[in-house]
Amino acid sequence: MATESVWVFGGASGMGYATAERLHKRGDRVTLLDVAPTTETIAKKLGAVGVVCDITSEAALTDCLEKLAKKQKPRAIINCVGIAPAARIVGKTGPCTLEIFNQVIQVNLCGAFNILRLGAYHMSQSEPDAEGRRGVIIQTASIAAFDGQIGQAAYSASKGGLVAMTLPAARELARFGIRVMTIAPGLMDTPLLRGLPEEVQKSLEAGTPFPKRFGHPSEFAALVEHIMDNPFLNGEVIRLDGALRMN
Ligand SMILES: NC(=O)c1ccc[n+]([C@@H]2O[C@H](COP(=O)([O-])OP(=O)(O)OC[C@H]3O[C@@H](n4cnc5c(N)ncnc54)[C@H](O)[C@@H]3O)[C@@H](O)[C@H]2O)c1
Repeated sequence: MATESVWVFGGASGMGYATAERLHKRGDRVTLLDVAPTTETIAKKLGAVGVVCDITSEAALTDCLEKLAKKQKPRAIINCVGIAPAARIVGKTGPCTLEIFNQVIQVNLCGAFNILRLGAYHMSQSEPDAEGRRGVIIQTASIAAFDGQIGQAAYSASKGGLVAMTLPAARELARFGIRVMTIAPGLMDTPLLRGLPEEVQKSLEAGTPFPKRFGHPSEFAALVEHIMDNPFLNGEVIRLDGALRMN
């Protein structure tokens, strides 16, 4: 697809930032959207546009995307937002609070649907290309959707929801010429994992068959670019994990 307007949610950090950087370099008009107050500064350094917004707010996201779409409709929407607090169902101090579960589902799943519904609407209002294509929406799940570990019940449930949503969304939005894809990363080298103790990081890296290391955010960005440019990829979840199966 030709270089056009791209919205990258969660663009202020990790894989979202790497994606924004790669797409900006190739000439796409990138907007970074993130709840981080530093979003505008980070975007400016890149030469892109930054907008502070919380994807869990129906009103705020509606307003924010309306303003953006008025300037230019999106051709690609990439959602890299995610939170991953670990919480056992029954921990040392008793049952997991419902609040933690709700929070993870709100951000990772409801927030992703908020992006999907509004993003797809604005995309559907754009002019299709000669082959009827209007664009692609890419969500980020996790391999925890398939092989989640102890303490990941909420996270896995939220990412499993994204996996399950991919096909029905692709089927429904096909009539607008909008594709829907999901990437399920394994262990990636972002602030999210680098916050762990060093020995935990080492043992995690050793668990990936090959390459025996964390994935680079640039490898995620490269896959996003490929999905954007390959019009026959639709309604599918792609694992990006060096053959890691967590147990
Ligand atoms: N890092 C990994 O190993 C890994 C593995 C599998 C899946 N993932 C998933 O990949 C995605 C990106 O992960 P990352 O490691 O780059 O994370 P990250 O923490 O570096 O970036 C996530 C971004 O989301 C933003 N964000 C959080 N809540 C938000 C909200 N309500 N509204 C708007 N923005 C919000 C944060 O400010 C942050 O900039 C996430 O969905 C994560 O669950 C990560």
